[in-house]
Parts: sequence; C-alpha cells; structure tokens
Amino acid sequence: MTNIFVLTGAGISAESGLGTFRDTDGAWARFDPMRLATPEGFAADPVLVHDFYNHRRRDARAAAPNPAHAALARLEAGLAARGGRLFLCTQNIDDLHERAGSRHVVHMHGALLKARCTACVTDTVWHEDLTVETPCPHCGHSGEMRPDVVWFGEMPHHLEAIDEALAEADLFVAIGTSGAVYPAAGYVAQARAFGIPTLALTLEAADNAGLFEATRLGRASETVPAFVEEVLNGA
Ligand code: APR
Ligand code: ZN
Repeated sequence: MTNIFVLTGAGISAESGLGTFRDTDGAWARFDPMRLATPEGFAADPVLVHDFYNHRRRDARAAAPNPAHAALARLEAGLAARGGRLFLCTQNIDDLHERAGSRHVVHMHGALLKARCTACVTDTVWHEDLTVETPCPHCGHSGEMRPDVVWFGEMPHHLEAIDEALAEADLFVAIGTSGAVYPAAGYVAQARAFGIPTLALTLEAADNAGLFEATRLGRASETVPAFVEEVLNGA
C-alpha cells in the first residue's frame, strides 16, 4: 500500500477529551444542531452560536493529540519516505492532526481555529473568543466575523481534491466517524466503486458499516497505531 486515503471523524479526537456528535453524550444529543450549526441558526442568534464555538475553541486549544493522531503523522512520513502518499481528509475542525505532526491535513468541514469575515470574505487564524462586535482584522468591519467552519446546508471544502485523491488511492480507511453526514459518508461507496479496499477503525459500527470490507472495533488510540505499524513495518 503506498497511496492511502484516510478519513477521520470526531472519534479520533474523543480520547483527547473532545466530545463527539452522535455518541450518547455527544453534542447533538445535548444541543440542537439546527440552532448551532446552520447559517439560519447563526443569523437568528449569533450570540448563542458564538458562545457554542467559543467553548469548543477553548476546549480544542486545551486538548492534546492522542496516539492515534501521532500514528497518522508517522504514517504520512513513512509513506512519503517510500514514494507513497497519505491523503488525510478530516471532518474535524480541531487542529490535533497538525499538532501531532501531520503536515498535509484537508479540513473538509473547516477549522475552529480560523475565523471568516462575511464582509470581505477573508479568513484569519483565530484562537480567541469571537463576539458579534469582533472587528475584522482585514477590513475593520465589526459584527461580520464567524467561525470558519462548514455548517449544515453549506458546501464542504476541497471536494475536487478529495475526489481526485480517492480515485488514486490503494486503500480507503475511515477512522472514528459514524457515516451519518454526506458527502463524507459516501466516500466508502466511491472507494468500492473504484475497486479500492476499505477498512473502518471505530468504536461502534458506523451507519454505513455494511459497505466496509473490514472493520476493527476499538479505541482509536489502540487501533490506529496498530494499523500504522502493520502498514509501515508489516507487523
Ligand atoms: N475511538 C474510535 N472511534 C470512536 C471513539 C474512540 N475512542 N469514540 C467514538 N468513536 C466513534 C463512534 O463510534 C462514532 O462512530 O466515532 C464516531 C463519532 O461519530 P459522530 O459523533 O457522528 O462524529 P462524525 O462522524 O465525525 O460526524 C460527522 O457530523 O455534525 C457533523 O460536522 C459534524 O464533522 C461532523 C460530522
Ligand atoms: Zn473583513
């Protein structure tokens, strides 16, 4: 295997203390995603939505990468050393892959530690709280800043690059994702249509579990390092 496509979801960051969405104690079990993760919800109550993402941004900054993130950084370096490639596509908006050492991370749902100005449409690395008064550092407009994340009903990022990478992969691996949200949930079917082997590493079987040729149930901090060891050292 030299070209591996890895799709990660909230489950890879669970052991870093960042909650998932659809587990029993997940965000969408406690909050209404339509009020907190849609453009309409933001327009209706920007203070509530800023507060929700400010809390998640603080949590993400306080969290540390876990052995699963570190293993994927090793996989990226190991594959590159043998002329291969890891295409790491994440649905996550935290920066734990980067902080674990991954150098090429495709955030298809945006990034919590970036803010976007809806007036001049520039995005900025952003680690502090955002409020309805925050001025844009580029155009100076106040009240136009939002988290640079993709909400329900908005177009995910980098879809063309993702489709191209998927078509070139020798292996498709989904890690810690419930397979509940498209287009990410459809990538396993696309991989199978390309004749690419598919593997799921997750705690519980995903909604699209039946489409994976192989599934290894367990905690990412254990299953991902073991998988990477197999790929890099034939363990
Ligand atoms: N190790 C491995 N997998 C885990 C762990 C763990 N320690 N803990 C939970 N999981 C698995 C769960 O079994 C579940 O399949 O991670 C998955 C989490 O699923 P979701 O909470 O639905 O998260 P995700 O699939 O990333 O959600 C996709 O939905 O709300 C949107 O934009 C949001 O990017 C998110 C998208
Ligand atoms: Zn601006």
